[in-house]
Amino acid sequence: MTQTQKILVTGATGTVGRHVVAELLARGHEVRALTRDAAKAGLPAQVEVVEGDLTEPGTLAPALEGVTGLHLITFGGAAFTPLETGPRILETARSAGVRRITVLHGGGPTPLEDAVRADDTVDWTVLMPVEFMANALEWVDGIVASGEVREPFVTRLSAMVHEGDIGAVAAVALTEEGHGRQEYVITGPEVLTVGDKVTTLAAAVGREIALVELTEEQALARWRAAYLPEDVIDFLLEAYGNTPEVGRTVSDAVEKVTGRPARTFAQWAAAHADAFRP
Ligand SMILES: NC(=O)c1ccc[n+]([C@@H]2O[C@H](COP(=O)([O-])OP(=O)(O)OC[C@H]3O[C@@H](n4cnc5c(N)ncnc54)[C@H](OP(=O)(O)O)[C@@H]3O)[C@@H](O)[C@H]2O)c1
Repeated sequence: MTQTQKILVTGATGTVGRHVVAELLARGHEVRALTRDAAKAGLPAQVEVVEGDLTEPGTLAPALEGVTGLHLITFGGAAFTPLETGPRILETARSAGVRRITVLHGGGPTPLEDAVRADDTVDWTVLMPVEFMANALEWVDGIVASGEVREPFVTRLSAMVHEGDIGAVAAVALTEEGHGRQEYVITGPEVLTVGDKVTTLAAAVGREIALVELTEEQALARWRAAYLPEDVIDFLLEAYGNTPEVGRTVSDAVEKVTGRPARTFAQWAAAHADAFRP
């Protein structure tokens, strides 16, 4: 067990951030969580919740007082708009004496990640997860309503990762030596097709789930009907239709950094089965 440290987690109310918080608490560390709305945060009672906005770095200085580590997201606001405030956020963190930073990579270069990578005064670690297992929650409505998953590109391969493992890698990198100037591609322990995921989910939920393949045109129509911005649609088309090798190759980062194997989709499905039941 390392000495207790105080860490500021941004994006703490998000899919990954909640696990960063949980993994830090499980290791005995103190967590301060940044949110734009403390009343809605819904974080564990032992977390110190503070309000701030990454698009206004001035609000960060009080949140950073007394922390040794900082977990960063690279976006602010709707549609994952990359933060333009990266250099100021980093300057504020440095002035506060932060020694270690983790950055949740957002799929491409951002001003914040660029600023962190260029810094040689703190130990930074870039977390590069592949597809989150939690994306399967998008299937809840279809499964509950009609026992169906409707997806394009059903044979695409994914080494998808449990969000808890991203949180665990972050927690170790933020509190232990040896992870400075590293970037970790974080994946699950196996490569699955959409069909494999549906079969696993059906077994966990205890009902049959049909997989209906959508054409590319049907997928585009669905994403547009959901008002996804065109650049996000382009990203999805590329990620699903032509998954890069990194997204379909198992890495050993989780085991190397945390000392235990990456969690399987079967484990994720068992833990979330109730969400898929009426
Ligand atoms: N989904 C995937 O398969 C996948 C795979 C690889 C990488 N990623 C990357 O993961 C990231 C998304 O992570 P996530 O799913 O954990 O996020 P999320 O669940 O959408 O949560 C968004 C978080 O961002 C915070 N936030 C947004 N704007 C903010 C601002 N201006 N100031 C302070 N906090 C702000 C929110 O906090 P409050 O609302 O509490 O203020 C919330 O905690 C993206 O960069 C994405 O590219 C996703």
